[in-house]
Amino acid sequence: MLTKRVFSGIQPTGIPHLGNYFGALVQWTELARGRHKHFERPIFAIVDVHAYTSRFVKFGRPLYTSILDTAASLLAIGLGPENCILFRQSDILEHYYLDNVLDNFVTTARLARMTQYREKMGEQESPANGLLTYPVLQAADILLYRSNLVPVGEDQRQHIELTRDIARKFNETTQSRLFPEPEALLSGSLHARRIKSLREPARKMSKSDLDNKSFIELVEEPEVILEKVKKAKTDCESRVFYDAEKRPGISNLMRIHHLATGQSFEDIEHEFAGVESSKYKLALAEILIDKFRPVREEFKRIRADRAYLEATLAAGREQAGPLAAETVLEVKRLLGSLEAR
Ligand code: TYM
Repeated sequence: MLTKRVFSGIQPTGIPHLGNYFGALVQWTELARGRHKHFERPIFAIVDVHAYTSRFVKFGRPLYTSILDTAASLLAIGLGPENCILFRQSDILEHYYLDNVLDNFVTTARLARMTQYREKMGEQESPANGLLTYPVLQAADILLYRSNLVPVGEDQRQHIELTRDIARKFNETTQSRLFPEPEALLSGSLHARRIKSLREPARKMSKSDLDNKSFIELVEEPEVILEKVKKAKTDCESRVFYDAEKRPGISNLMRIHHLATGQSFEDIEHEFAGVESSKYKLALAEILIDKFRPVREEFKRIRADRAYLEATLAAGREQAGPLAAETVLEVKRLLGSLEAR
């Protein structure tokens, strides 16, 4: 059986939150720790160039801080040079070469139809071009490493479909089989694929939400976790029971509870029968504080060592760089910029 290559990315737009963690990062760590023996050592990128497209990005020191925060968070949950290749996207210039190439294998109309683009377009008067071509850069990230599997949350599924189409178009045009058609690897748990905002449970939990009580960062202080869970939006019914349709708020909390402990909804309902939802929130906050305490402590330790973080990213660049260069050479040969072999 051939081994499969795994690639994924995360934007350094702050510290990863529970949505990122349950939706994607849990899978990243499982893949890195080699639970799946038919997969190559996975490649993970901190995609700083994607973050440039965010209207909330603060260039300069704050972005740099976020890159190191993200790197330290990933190391704190158990990723590291010994089990994966972790690098900063902007360190490998081949991403932009391939991005430019792939721009010619997708139509502007298709990009303009992408859900994420249309959502963001609705929020801004004159969106930057980077927002439109965002998914092409994402396709370049994935295809540069000729990846087969992309562990992501539900919100990224459409981007991976687009990547498949771009790969197919490129292969057809160049009469090659250079790029595999990658597949999204969603969490085995349906409940993990789209964690909702704590404040507006109809929306997904998002780092760029202006209301920072809508998400819980992985390394949040205990009192902040408590405060955010207490303030999570629930309905006026006080009973703890799961009903995703009618009671999205409490159900989102129960989903997080289930993911954090492995307990089923029935178990949770049973354990908290007769308990008011305000008391339930205190118990859930306690569970989250305990679960993520080691991550927070590890994060603090690693984050204090900037040189180590930079060295880790440099080691990732050394490993990813040759793989990227090899693909670009092949692309140039296929396109005719260089003599074919
Ligand atoms: P980003 O940085 O928004 O999120 C990182 C990962 O977390 C998942 N995720 C969620 N999962 C469940 N519930 C949520 N509320 C939630 N919010 C985020 C995302 O699906 C993602 O897997 N475009 C990507 C970054 C990217 C990328 C790539 C990903 C750039 N190049 C190549 C894969 C492959 C993004 O913005 O992720």
